[in-house]
Amino acid sequence: MYAETGFQRLLRQKTRPLHISGIPENAGATAVALLTSRLGKAVGDFLDTEALDGLTLRLSTRTPFGGGPEDEDEEPPARFRPIEPEYDFDRLILPAATREQLMLAITTMEHRAQLFERWNLGMIEPHPNAAISLHGPSGTGKTMAAHAIAHRLGKKIILADYAQLESKYHGDGTKNLHAMFAAALAHDAVLFLDEADALLHRRFEATSQGSEHAVNTLRSALLMALDAFEGLAVFATNSASSYDPAVHTRVRHVEIPLPDAPAREAIWRAHLPPGLPLAEDVSCAALAELDGVSGREIKKAVIEAATRALRAGRFHVDQADFRTALESARAARQSAETPRPAQAGQAAEAAQPAEAAQPAEVVQPAEAAQAGHPAQDRPASGPIPAPSELARAVLDAASDLESTTTGNAR
Ligand SMILES: Nc1ncnc2c1ncn2[C@@H]1O[C@H](COP(=O)(O)OP(=O)(O)O)[C@@H](O)[C@H]1O
Ligand SMILES: [Mg+2]
Repeated sequence: MYAETGFQRLLRQKTRPLHISGIPENAGATAVALLTSRLGKAVGDFLDTEALDGLTLRLSTRTPFGGGPEDEDEEPPARFRPIEPEYDFDRLILPAATREQLMLAITTMEHRAQLFERWNLGMIEPHPNAAISLHGPSGTGKTMAAHAIAHRLGKKIILADYAQLESKYHGDGTKNLHAMFAAALAHDAVLFLDEADALLHRRFEATSQGSEHAVNTLRSALLMALDAFEGLAVFATNSASSYDPAVHTRVRHVEIPLPDAPAREAIWRAHLPPGLPLAEDVSCAALAELDGVSGREIKKAVIEAATRALRAGRFHVDQADFRTALESARAARQSAETPRPAQAGQAAEAAQPAEAAQPAEVVQPAEAAQAGHPAQDRPASGPIPAPSELARAVLDAASDLESTTTGNAR
């Protein structure tokens, strides 16, 4: 028999004030009508005197330990429980153009009813955007942005990722997906789905292999859930390539690029807490000249630099500590991103853990990157640069053009 998921049931309840399930199919029609109308009246009377948002009653002639489909009425599983957002827009530092795009996307979502129903834009777009997809390199603030969006809307956030949906331990993906949407609906929370790449990207043409079939099924389920969902869903992916056309119309894309120079400077400032003792020579403006780095790498570099200073027996962190730590973080990422053959490239050497590396030696890759040719760090015989690196080179060039930043610079 077709089993309704908790999500589908919740949707149906939105149009019907009372939903009664569990009456055996072979019960007489008159008896069922009497039972439901009496239950309906009793519940109505009860709600008239008790101010409650929602009510779930369970009546059963069976053992309460039974299990069965009605158990989906229970609280959402722990992995889809909403939390208070941990970041707001004051902490998220983005180039002004990126921030504006994000704000526009939030406005579209927030005022969907106004735009597509009252102003009738639904006539020209029957499937208005139901989600924001944030794409861009890792560590650029996509997760932060999802928190900030929820904070801005005064809502909680449910954090989920693709792996959780596909988890073998929690049943099939579609069921998990519905549980996730049901939780978001029930708690009026923003839904954040990280690592959504596989779901947003083009359908596999050949569906002979089981896993590809599973992804396509899950993607279709996602699109249907999005069409029905009235809340806000935010997706994050690291790559922007080949979105599935069906996803395109439902999802509004916002690119979160690597920070430009003014954004980097603000991110450096925001990551130097008041208690951290700094040498006289520390300059955020100078550190911001090191490009091709993400906010996460800056954060890591600050912690790494402080650790290095302490290990060297100093009680202040100086400019060289920050530079060295940042360059090694950047080089480590570059070498991790590029599968490399036996002979080591320069980037790989710079990625060797700290102690041996002298600042003067590791400056080289940075200079090459600043000249706008990050791929030149690589030996000519080396592997083809990853698409994300090429994309980053383009982004760097583009970000030199826009330079305004709104941040919480100290
Ligand atoms: N745009 C940004 N503004 C401020 N801090 C940032 C930014 N991007 C990254 N960071 C820092 O890096 C950390 C990781 O960012 P995160 O949002 O998890 O990146 P992503 O989800 O894009 O991989 C943040 O907690 C923050 O310390
Ligand atoms: Mg993230």
